[in-house]
Amino acid sequence: MIFSLLCIIISLIAIILYLEVKKPKNYPPGPLWLPIVGCLFQFKKLKEKFGYQHLAWQELYNRYGEVVGTKLGRKYVVVVFGEEAVAQILTREEFEGRPNGFIFRMRTFGRRLGLVFSEGDFWKKQRKFSIQRLKKFGYGGKQMIEKVEEETSYLMEAFMKKCADPILMHDAFDVSVINVLWTMIAGERFDLEDAKLKELMGIIHDAFRMLDMSGGLLNQIPLLRYLAPRSSGYRQIMKVMQGLWNFLEDTVKDHKNNFSTDNPKDLIEAFLQEMNTHNDDTFSDEQLIASCLDLLMAGSETTSNTLSFAVVYMLENPEVMRRVQLEQDKVVGRNRCPSLQDSVRLPYTNAVLKEVQRIANIPPVGIAHRAVRDAELFGYTIPEDTIVLTSLYSVHMDPKTWKDPHVFRPERFLGEEGKTIRERAFLPFGYGKRQCLGISLAKANYFLFFTSLLHRFNLEKTPGELQPDINGYDGITLSPKPFKVKLVPR
Ligand code: HEM
Repeated sequence: MIFSLLCIIISLIAIILYLEVKKPKNYPPGPLWLPIVGCLFQFKKLKEKFGYQHLAWQELYNRYGEVVGTKLGRKYVVVVFGEEAVAQILTREEFEGRPNGFIFRMRTFGRRLGLVFSEGDFWKKQRKFSIQRLKKFGYGGKQMIEKVEEETSYLMEAFMKKCADPILMHDAFDVSVINVLWTMIAGERFDLEDAKLKELMGIIHDAFRMLDMSGGLLNQIPLLRYLAPRSSGYRQIMKVMQGLWNFLEDTVKDHKNNFSTDNPKDLIEAFLQEMNTHNDDTFSDEQLIASCLDLLMAGSETTSNTLSFAVVYMLENPEVMRRVQLEQDKVVGRNRCPSLQDSVRLPYTNAVLKEVQRIANIPPVGIAHRAVRDAELFGYTIPEDTIVLTSLYSVHMDPKTWKDPHVFRPERFLGEEGKTIRERAFLPFGYGKRQCLGISLAKANYFLFFTSLLHRFNLEKTPGELQPDINGYDGITLSPKPFKVKLVPR
């Protein structure tokens, strides 16, 4: 009797283990995996070897090709590389979903809320609402341009006051970048030295460094939050999220106490108006906080890092900086500040910013997608609910598209060479229906902050101080390590 029971238990365990390690039929090639942990150990080893998540993925691309099938923890994760495969994911409806794992819901009160990790009709309605209302409060139009110009002048004045000493540059644009966005969301701006906001931005930077687009260990084995709350990172992530929730809850509370439904002045008021006047349960207090959280997180870190990396590349390539300044001196002159209208007449400056985005790969992997049903890709089967990651790095660094991809060469975006660049070969904002919602704000921000900085100052390295490094910190976005710059007024 005991023997038979033992046999049954052993057979059951063997079946479970077999099912755990068995790959789905026609799954894309990739490393072998273990029960429960999947390929986690191989991935961790590759990350340690190459220093960055996206380079660990790139190694798997070199081994297995443009569609790589893995399992992280108990989740199927497919990673795609190169222009063709990435375009398929970004444009096909079967891949329009977002993952629904523990870590993706944890940010938004355990539910699928917000703009970035929601999907289906809920996401379509909420995305449309946010875009329409943001436009009403100036997004993409004259009001936004005026706001960016105003913030630029505050920032340049602040630099002017501080420029006797070397300035920390890795986070110098944080508050100014937030201010333009925050005026449309919450109707207010922050002082550039606002301690609370600086702390908040520190929290956002931490969050981006802690998380990983596949969801990370906690997503793959959520039980770890109880078994190892500290070493799994759970406690730290919760602390970071708590800081953000508190800030947003206070902001919404203030709005509730002081707003009139007739004439909303910002996105939060428009949302509250919608909640009061329509009986639509997709508009809830939690969704309001989640949307603000998404806009704040998606909009600040990316733009701020782009600007700081642009400064790093100027310090590493002073001849490029001189050429940007020469172009500006010719087009803008020395008697007025650059404006967004100058953009069309500054092709070299625009090429430099594009080259920074290409080579710095600030989001090296796009935001995770999800297969909403079984789908075919390059002859392989991607099972429903698989997390699909797009390596934007592989697109931007493909030697077949970009000659000498590791060389910083803005000229590749100009003249005949520039004309031959295919739209899908340069994707800093993604592509398709889930393309970045903030492109026009991001472009306006980094164009004007960058041109104004070089119009007003020469940038110099500061021997003996923290030096710029083109290799940033790893995370959901790559972020520059702290470095100092001497700003010399021109
Ligand atoms: C240089 C700055 C920026 C970069 C490089 C960037 C990049 C991206 C990328 C790669 C995606 C993912 C696309 C995909 O899923 O395939 C994305 C999505 C998103 N971005 Fe941005 N972004 C930037 C600025 C902004 C700003 C300023 C905002 C806010 C106004 C913003 C809001 C969003 C949102 C809400 C999404 C999710 C869209 C959705 O899932 O429907 N981003 N961004």
